[in-house]
Amino acid sequence: MSLLERIKTLSATNSRDTIDVRRHLHANPELSYQEVNTVAYVAEVLKASGITSLMPMATTGLVAEIQGRNPSRRTIALRADMDALPITEANDVPYKSKNIGVMHACGHDVHTSSLLGTARILNQIRDSFDGTVRLIFQPGEEKNPGGASYMIRDGALQNPVPSSILGQHVFPLLPVGKIGFREGMYMASADEIYLKVIGKGGHGAAPDLCIDPIVITSHIIVAMQQIISRNANPRQPTVLTFGNIIGHGATNIIPNEVNVAGTFRAMNEEWRESALIKIKKLAEGIAEAMGGRCEVDISRGYPYLENNPTLTRRIKSHAEAYVGKENVVDIDISLGAEDFSYYSQVVPASFYRLGTSNASKGITSYVHTPTFDIDEDALAIGPGLMAWMAVQELSAS
Ligand code: NI
Repeated sequence: MSLLERIKTLSATNSRDTIDVRRHLHANPELSYQEVNTVAYVAEVLKASGITSLMPMATTGLVAEIQGRNPSRRTIALRADMDALPITEANDVPYKSKNIGVMHACGHDVHTSSLLGTARILNQIRDSFDGTVRLIFQPGEEKNPGGASYMIRDGALQNPVPSSILGQHVFPLLPVGKIGFREGMYMASADEIYLKVIGKGGHGAAPDLCIDPIVITSHIIVAMQQIISRNANPRQPTVLTFGNIIGHGATNIIPNEVNVAGTFRAMNEEWRESALIKIKKLAEGIAEAMGGRCEVDISRGYPYLENNPTLTRRIKSHAEAYVGKENVVDIDISLGAEDFSYYSQVVPASFYRLGTSNASKGITSYVHTPTFDIDEDALAIGPGLMAWMAVQELSAS
């Protein structure tokens, strides 16, 4: 039997267990940086699969290694995230969340169970490949500063530095059976922008005695969009959205201050840096010119995610061999953010998408919604596919 057939057979025979693991995780979700029971369960499943070299890190993170025949030849890293979201599940399924108000609504239960499935397969075929596979189970993908940054800080990409890292994410925009890839620019950096515009409140009928922060804020918000339309490279997508404005005045009351919150997204780190400076200067300058003051607070989020083009091209061809050319698709860029981007700043990285929807079964909800779910048939594909791509990358010359 060829290695590809062997992996496919193992992925299929193990899939019932992988689904059970996914259901356990789904029923017992934990929020970002609180994945205490989750990581203990992951360690338990790894040990049951015969994988014992475990290195806890980043408090609720875990790294494990599987050594092939010639362990020092090359190391490849595979990553899954483990945290859930503060959403109350609306699905009526046997594996519904038992932790009210917390839900695996972004598929991290799928990523974790799939990587555990991959680990089991790789351990079963470790006499058939050269090199080492490093499994990275990280906390806190959903919350700044991102669990990936802590994993890197704690050495997840050291001793030795892996030649590349792969990550997988569920994708409701693709039906089960399909796998999506994107070379190069893929996901955006995301920074949170907080503005406190300070004026001087008073009677709405006496603006001459006030400094109106509502009018100042209005100018700032409109002017900010010129940064996007007049300063950004039109060939690189970028977004600035303010989704929250609070000014506690009334029809006849000018408030003392207005608070604004928004998100800035970019697909280029240099542009990101210069835009953040422009945002701050413009807000401060307009407020000052109009007699008020603006305090700008920027909470930096994840960097831009670049899928290494040559790595992505290679793993895409591995995927074509595994699931068939007709099931591999090119996907569009996204202005969403993902902390896998931190790894992409350190080593060649590629983040691909596992199709998980199935309209005929009514599974169509998007991620981060209370009705999100996947077609679990994806768990017969995901683990074997990642194992196959990993061994192909390890054996590449
Ligand atoms: Ni996610």
